[in-house]
Amino acid sequence: MIRLLQFTDTHLLADPSATVRGVRTQASLEACLAHARRRHLPADAIAVTGDLVQDDPQAYGALELLFDGLGAPVLLIPGNHDVPDELERRFAHEPFQVGGTRVLGRWVIVMLASWYANAQDGEGQLGLAELRRLEAALEAHRDRHVLVCLHHQPMPMEAAGLDALGLGDADAFMAVIRRHPQVRAVVWGHAHQSLDVFRGNVRYLCTPSTCMQFKPRDPGFVIDDRPPGYRVLDLHDDGGIATEVVWLEGYRQ
Ligand SMILES: [Fe+2]
Repeated sequence: MIRLLQFTDTHLLADPSATVRGVRTQASLEACLAHARRRHLPADAIAVTGDLVQDDPQAYGALELLFDGLGAPVLLIPGNHDVPDELERRFAHEPFQVGGTRVLGRWVIVMLASWYANAQDGEGQLGLAELRRLEAALEAHRDRHVLVCLHHQPMPMEAAGLDALGLGDADAFMAVIRRHPQVRAVVWGHAHQSLDVFRGNVRYLCTPSTCMQFKPRDPGFVIDDRPPGYRVLDLHDDGGIATEVVWLEGYRQ
């Protein structure tokens, strides 16, 4: 079995005590990591699926310190609030890996960048190069189970505001997924809430943020009263997945 922990939408700021929508993002991430250390580590890999910083690349320094030394490779992808050039420069060393694929036992993790330069307002797009890379990874690993990670939701979240900021080329992405039955699950962040649904045999999972959450199925961006969270994924050799969202119930900053 492979254990993967997913942390997403950490939204760190250069000032460690600064807040996003009233939440001190570094403190809430530290609380999530402390919880994971007590309950869910060691892991085989850690995925951090975008919006690592709130637009300020200076905050990558804190992220680097917090995710180093957890005893597992840390797989990173950019979200709409990231600065990809700076992300790649900063994390070009072990235990970090930006994008790419990672083979873990019977599984392959494919990390996709849905950040794109011409976004108007936080929406995402994989683009032809990233879609081709996905297709090539799936062709190369027909004999393994596959978990795909990206930042933006590839399907509607039934929330008009968020759905306007989804994955622009979701149809093309879904077409690739449908052609490759070894894909077991697709996981993302961006929507700051939990979702766990099946389409065909593929499980689609949205993971809450390590800071603040949006109210599910609300047309605007109303802040939910849910605490910070992260996801545990236990990936079994037969392709089965046991997963849960871990909420930091009772968290007070
Ligand atoms: Fe985002």
